[in-house]
Parts: sequence; C-alpha cells; structure tokens
Amino acid sequence: MNAKKVHIKSFGCQMNKLDSSLVSNALKDKGYELTDQSENADIVLINTCSVRDNAENRVVSHLGHLKYLKKTNPTLIVGVIGCMAQRLGVELLAHPAVDIVAGPAQIAQIPDMIEQTLSDHKRTVSITDKIRITGTADLSDDLNDFEFAYDSDENHIHNQAFVRIMRGCDKFCTYCIVPFVRGPEVSRSPQAIIDQIKKLADKGIKQITLLGQTVNSYVFVENEKTYTLADLLEMASEVDGIEWIRFITSHPKHFDESILRAMADLPKVCKYLHIPAQSGSDKILKAMNRGYTAAEYLDFIERAKQIVPDIAIAGDFIVGFPGETDEDFQATVELVKKAKYKNCFVFKYSPRPGTDTDKKLEDNIGEEIKKQRNTELLELQTKISEENNKKFLGQTVEVLVEGPSKKSHLNKSDNDGNPQLIGRTATDYIVVFNGPESLAGQFAKVTITKTAALTLFGQLS
Ligand code: 5AD
Ligand code: SF4
Repeated sequence: MNAKKVHIKSFGCQMNKLDSSLVSNALKDKGYELTDQSENADIVLINTCSVRDNAENRVVSHLGHLKYLKKTNPTLIVGVIGCMAQRLGVELLAHPAVDIVAGPAQIAQIPDMIEQTLSDHKRTVSITDKIRITGTADLSDDLNDFEFAYDSDENHIHNQAFVRIMRGCDKFCTYCIVPFVRGPEVSRSPQAIIDQIKKLADKGIKQITLLGQTVNSYVFVENEKTYTLADLLEMASEVDGIEWIRFITSHPKHFDESILRAMADLPKVCKYLHIPAQSGSDKILKAMNRGYTAAEYLDFIERAKQIVPDIAIAGDFIVGFPGETDEDFQATVELVKKAKYKNCFVFKYSPRPGTDTDKKLEDNIGEEIKKQRNTELLELQTKISEENNKKFLGQTVEVLVEGPSKKSHLNKSDNDGNPQLIGRTATDYIVVFNGPESLAGQFAKVTITKTAALTLFGQLS
C-alpha cells in the first residue's frame, strides 16, 4: 500500500514551528510521507495560533478551502491542532471540514489520533480540560519524551534547531490568551535539555535557540540546587559542536542580571535580546499587568547595554489597547526613540475571549486609529534602524548562512551564477550576499557594502 501523505500548515510563533516539526518527524517515523501541498494530501493538519483574531480568521478561511477539497477527496482527514484547538475544543468539530482537534499539550497523541480516525472514521477531540490546573508530571514526561525522540533540523533551517526549555506562561498579561491555551509555566529539567542539545550537536547542529514564552523565568530545583537560564546558558556553552546559543522570548520583569553577565562572558551566547515593552505609558502598562513602568524598562535597557556592549535589542508593542489616548501613544513613541531597538514588532490590539481585558474593557480604539498608530511606530522604527545599520558599512561580519533568499527581488545571481544567500549575525541582523548554496548551514564572513532598515547587503570575504 502507498504511504499516506500528510500536509502540515503552521501559523504563529516559534513554539508552533517546533511543535509542527516534532509532529512531522513522528509521522514520518510511522511511515507517512510529507507533502507541501494540501491538494495531494490524505491528511491535512493545521497548527493554529490564537494570539490575535486575524490569526484565527486565517485558519477559518483555510478550513473553508479544505471543506471544498473534501468534496473531491471525501476520505481527506483534517486536524486542527495547537492553541486555537485548545481554545475552542469541541466547538471546532462543528465545522464540516474538521475531523481531529488536539491542543498543544496533546501533540504526542496526534499520530494515534490519525490512526484511529483512518480506521473508524470518527471525529475526535483531545485537549486538556482544565489546562491551568494540570501540567501533571505524566503529561510533561510524555511531551519530554516526544520532544527528545523527534527533534531535528529537517523541517527547520539547516544546522539550526529549537530546544524548548519551558512550557506555558504564568504572567497573565491582561490581553493575552497564551496562559489559557498553553497552561502554567513548567520548566524542563536541565539534564533533559542538555542531553537534547548534545544529541542535536552530534547530528551537526551549530545553533540552538532555547524557547520559552518567558524564557528568563526558567527555574528548576534539583538536589537543593536552583537552575536558572544563566546556568543553562553556561551548561549549553560547554556542549562541543554548538557554536551559537540564542534564547527567546524574555519578559522585562525579574530579568536577572546573571543572564546579562552570561551574555557578556560566554562567547557562544548571542548578544541578542527580544524583550517586549508592549507600551511606553505607565497607565497602559498597569492595565496590561506588565509589572514595570516605562522608566524601569528603559533603565533595564541601559543596564543591558552597559553590561553587554554591542547588544541588539528587539521589542514588541501593542497599539490601540482599550483607553489608549494620544498621550499614551506618544509615551510609546518616546520609549521607542529612547530604546533604539534593532527592530520591533507592532501589533494592533485584538480582544481575546476570556482574557481580563476583554471581560472588563471595551475595545474602544477604532480600527483607523490603530492602523495609524501602527504605521507611525513602524515608520519611526524604520528610521532608527536605517540610521543604526549605517554603522555596519565597510565592516566584516560573521553570519550563519540560512540558504538562498526566498524573496525574488533579492534573489539575483552574480557573475559566477551564485544565488543571493541569507545569513544572520549573532546579533540577529539579516545579511544578503551572493555565494554558493553549499554554504547553507555554515558560518561565513561578509563585508557590508550597503545597508537598509531590515537588511544588510555585502560580499563574501
Ligand atoms: N492583541 C494584540 N497583540 C497581542 N499580543 C499578545 N496578545 C495580543 C493581543 N490580544 C502580542 C504581544 C506579544 C506578541 C507575541 O503578540 O506584543 O509580545
Ligand atoms: Fe502573553 Fe504576557 Fe505570557 Fe507573553 S508574558 S505569553 S504576552 S501573558
């Protein structure tokens, strides 16, 4: 019998990318074949994100397409997995296209759920009912084993891999759905993490990214010793073969200086910090339950720059949070001017059902104003980035090469027929240059000849 074909489509954050990759590897191991087209597939899995309404809307419109595909392929099996599956649970089965619903804590069960549906054609749901009060050892062990067994870089960038160090979030920012769909914070044991990193290094992985929703909250107590992110960075640095270590995402509250010192002292730890501020207005930060003021955040950024020279900092912002006045927005503009980020991500507030903000505050900032503020903040950041990036002109930087540029306007070949490659510096700057494709997954030195807000251009040196 021919192998069944599976297509996995992934929305959302790096956690989701990692989950999709684990599920892909587990299914391949069980004899399924992966396809990048849903039209050829026997099984389509959509790994979903719930963080904003538009992410969910894209899933719903994709399901519409799959409903249509089912008309020509009635045996097609469709699974919705990830955060939206956890949020909506059995409700999703009401959609005529959906056969399987599995939350983020159930990824290890997905191969069995598919087997079951292939044999009995029944629709099935597996989510954690009371996700905030579970996180039992059993569940964590299952997920740990699954992660250890099926990690690899095959579905990721060559020679790079993600390693989850913790799950869930306990911060409860009032706008955010994550604590409700990913459950409480649970840190993995340092031993499990380091064993996994060693295994990846043995397979040739050069860069690992430690993942957590609030990665600086990592804590694990064992034999009366408390392990923190700084300890993990030190332990991971000792793994032969691993050259670069990244970690995302950090929360500004309780960010221990030992992490900054690890960044300064350990050569393998990349000097890049993604640390969302969300707003520059103290009133809004309070309403968001972020646990710091704008001044405290900026103090921290200054401290980080002092301790880790050349650190590159990235931020996230939400504009149009309920009650955000022009003055509040202006305070955000001021913060962005002072923080001098390498880059930042700006999102329009999107009410999420069940969150505190949605229950208590009306989404009273109109779409037009949200759009305006979004554009203004991005334009400001573009100017800051353009200015900042000029310092690279004439410098030679080291990059880890990802592969040929997927953007056609960038993808021009040079005289030798070499395509334009994309690489990233340890500080996360994107560098485009011509070179042989065989450089993918390798380190290279590039001399910068031109700079733009989001990209540095150069020549192999
Ligand atoms: N609306 C808009 N943006 C949000 N984020 C999280 N929740 C929401 C929401 N309800 C943003 C935050 C976070 C990023 C991952 O998504 O900026 O840092
Ligand atoms: Fe959401 Fe806040 Fe947790 Fe980030 S720290 S995942 S924004 S609740």
